[in-house]
Amino acid sequence: MTQFLNNIDSKLPNVQTSIFAVMSKLAFENNAINLSQGYPDFKSDPQLIKLVNQAMVDGKNQYAPMPGVFGLRTQIANKIELLYNAKYNPENEITITAGATQAIFTVLAASIHKGNEVIVFKPAYDCYEPAIKLFGGKPITIQLDPETFKVDWDMVKMLISSKTKMIIINTPHNPSGAVLSKSDMLELEKLLINTNILLLSDEVYEHIIYDGEEHQSAALFPGLAERAFITASFGKTFHNTGWKMGYCLAPAALMKEFQKVHQYNVFSVNHPMQVALETYLKTPNNYLKLGGFYQQKRDLFLDLMKDSRFEFKPSKGTYFQLMNYKNISVERDVDFAKRLIKEIGVASIPVSVFNDDNLDTKVLRFCFAKSDDTLKKAAEILCKI
Ligand SMILES: Cc1ncc(COP(=O)(O)O)c(C=O)c1O
Repeated sequence: MTQFLNNIDSKLPNVQTSIFAVMSKLAFENNAINLSQGYPDFKSDPQLIKLVNQAMVDGKNQYAPMPGVFGLRTQIANKIELLYNAKYNPENEITITAGATQAIFTVLAASIHKGNEVIVFKPAYDCYEPAIKLFGGKPITIQLDPETFKVDWDMVKMLISSKTKMIIINTPHNPSGAVLSKSDMLELEKLLINTNILLLSDEVYEHIIYDGEEHQSAALFPGLAERAFITASFGKTFHNTGWKMGYCLAPAALMKEFQKVHQYNVFSVNHPMQVALETYLKTPNNYLKLGGFYQQKRDLFLDLMKDSRFEFKPSKGTYFQLMNYKNISVERDVDFAKRLIKEIGVASIPVSVFNDDNLDTKVLRFCFAKSDDTLKKAAEILCKI
């Protein structure tokens, strides 16, 4: 195509193709086992697929209501009450979204004004900062300790100023697999009480938590819930990342602003899937079993990797496992990850891409949301290097 004009004046001049797209493409080209991007390689529950088909046959093929199918919002409200003993009104405190990414983008679009500061912990999932910047905000990043990934709340306190509009947390945390404890949440609550600071709590892995730990949702803490947008993903929970279905919870006044943006962004999202998810959520075991399911995969993968030269501490949540390769190579993590794809046929994500100033700690992120067979094949190769 002939280029007529190039005066778009990029709003995101430094943004490049996401590392997930880069690594998945490279994995595809090299026919590598793909443990990079975070999605399962096994099928979702046939019952859920049948429910979607049925909803289509039943004619649920036109626009859903703007905030989402009321029955689904009611089931979500029931789930949140069951798990976190918090009440969200399905009428005006829950919106169904096209995945958590759209929910996060909408939260930021609705709340960030020019010059507002947003505290972001690094390593961070990659969709937060570009969206903050698009709306004129300034990310204030805090690098977490690369060993423990614990939050230094004194540092947070120091960085809070009159410009701070929002803090973003993510628990269980991508990419580290760390989780925020009850005392972390209480520290945060103490810091935010008597301020107007908003909270975006990205809880897409809420059901993927291990070793008997309990997910500490912002919904559990009244001083956080009153100011929180909580985002969630059915893609992560029900093995359907390609469906891009999720939701956002917030108190009515915040949700009102969220919906002002939502209605002109997507208006409403996939109707038959909402109808299916409404029925599927009526069985709590469909999401309660997820932690046990993935813990078996984590344990299998780690057992298979125990004699490798990688160093690791078991992930506490999410379906990611970090592995340190400092005993194997001094290469930069991006180069090492690319070489692993090309030379041995296993794809991972280099963690520096999530870090402040691309801090390279010689760590790769492996996704173990894969069939046992895939994990065995990958581990066998990784143990040889
Ligand atoms: C921390 C985190 N937040 C949000 C998302 C996006 O979720 P969705 O696919 O529902 O948009 C992801 C996906 O990898 C994630 O890891």
